[in-house]
Amino acid sequence: MLISDAPDQASPASLPVGTTTELGGALPAPGSGRGRKHGTSRTEPFDRWFRYPAGFASDYVTSLLAHLALPSGSTVIDPFAGSAVTGTAARQAGHSFFGIEAHPAIAELGQLKLQYAPQHSQPLSEMAKKLVTAAESRVDASEARLDDEPDLVKRCFTKPVLARLTSLRDLIRAGAAEEWHLYAKWALLGTLRDVASARVGWPYQRPASERKPTYADPMTRFLQRALWMEEDLNQTCEYTEPLTFHVQNGDSRSQNSWAGIATGSAQGCVSSPPYLNNFDYADATRLELYFWGDVSSWAEMCASVRNEMLTATTQQSSVGAAITAQTKLRDYGTVSKRILDIVEQLTAERAARRRGKEYDRVVPDYFLAIAQVLEQMAWAMQPGASAIWLVGDSAPYGVYIDTPRLISELAQELGFSSEKDVVLRRRGQRWASNTTRHDVELSERMIVLRRAL
Ligand SMILES: C[S@@+](CC[C@H](N)C(=O)[O-])C[C@H]1O[C@@H](n2cnc3c(N)ncnc32)[C@H](O)[C@@H]1O
Repeated sequence: MLISDAPDQASPASLPVGTTTELGGALPAPGSGRGRKHGTSRTEPFDRWFRYPAGFASDYVTSLLAHLALPSGSTVIDPFAGSAVTGTAARQAGHSFFGIEAHPAIAELGQLKLQYAPQHSQPLSEMAKKLVTAAESRVDASEARLDDEPDLVKRCFTKPVLARLTSLRDLIRAGAAEEWHLYAKWALLGTLRDVASARVGWPYQRPASERKPTYADPMTRFLQRALWMEEDLNQTCEYTEPLTFHVQNGDSRSQNSWAGIATGSAQGCVSSPPYLNNFDYADATRLELYFWGDVSSWAEMCASVRNEMLTATTQQSSVGAAITAQTKLRDYGTVSKRILDIVEQLTAERAARRRGKEYDRVVPDYFLAIAQVLEQMAWAMQPGASAIWLVGDSAPYGVYIDTPRLISELAQELGFSSEKDVVLRRRGQRWASNTTRHDVELSERMIVLRRAL
């Protein structure tokens, strides 16, 4: 079914775009190109530590926080915290932050940006220089061991570059960066895609496809990245006490993950859940995970990295989970009927194909997970507090899924009112020339939910 056929769902084209609202003034202009389109910024403080493809642009989060008009010293939450762009923007605006992120490495990065830097050790840039000197003296020994590296890693770099990268890595892993251990680790992980000689642009890593590295020398790039970190950390000293900042590695569906925050204590939320677009956050970071040795096989990655992520891709779906989700969704009022209708259409579309993808199994599991996260948010948020979510719709096999609207309706079953649903930008035009793709117009939207008084 195309969107124009949907009897009771508003077309995104009919929604207001970039309107002024009663919350806190004007929203950024529609289609301004801001928002998640660009991922984490390459230049903004903290964002530039590591370019997470799913990340917000931090200037956009700053404008969304301003839109919430929170009194300073409020607590902001993000149940899909990613690399903590909402966290650093909240800190910059003078608020505390509590986020939950399922990807263990990305949660580590987010927490690193928000924690106090070591105060009594040598400066980060000094430590980085010493590390580089020590690593240079071991490059030959590292080059002799390159055969032991995972295949993906070997194929993404020339030998001299990889020998330098692994020489640095082995020193950092052995503790040579001392208190700066995690900073050195992320300066190095941020360097990988800068110096790769294969196509490692986000989200797909294509080692078979060669490219000219953006930067030639890994040591110089590592030093540059350490210097940026030092500059950004120096900026934050004045914001700390008595605010608190935390990224919890875990599953935001589970109450245990929210143990670090008191019930009713959050005054605002700015977040962006996974979209129903088959984007795999674990796979997108495969190069970093293999290089650092966090995982050594696809199965291990699924077990240890994807484990707590909600189902948003066909690769994560399972028959059992989909059946359970369909039953549980019936607890969520009339919106469940609309979700189950979509499941039925997707089942028919899959049956009509020889090797159709299991979108019909993803959808119930996805919306049940979103409902469970909203339940936890309702528990954590103060009555009257507002949540802004950025989320896109989708149309697998041309079946339109109005994800923002369905999320708003689920939220209304769970103690929120739906205040706004605004189109931020159109998406999907990248595939306009693909004649096998559906022609449903897609958009990224901002929904505003308010916790009931
Ligand atoms: C659209 S991204 C948000 C990125 C974030 N706004 C940023 O700027 O980095 C969605 C994030 O949700 C995370 N995620 C998926 N399932 C989750 C779950 N059950 N609990 C917590 N985080 C989850 C993904 O790993 C991903 O980082």
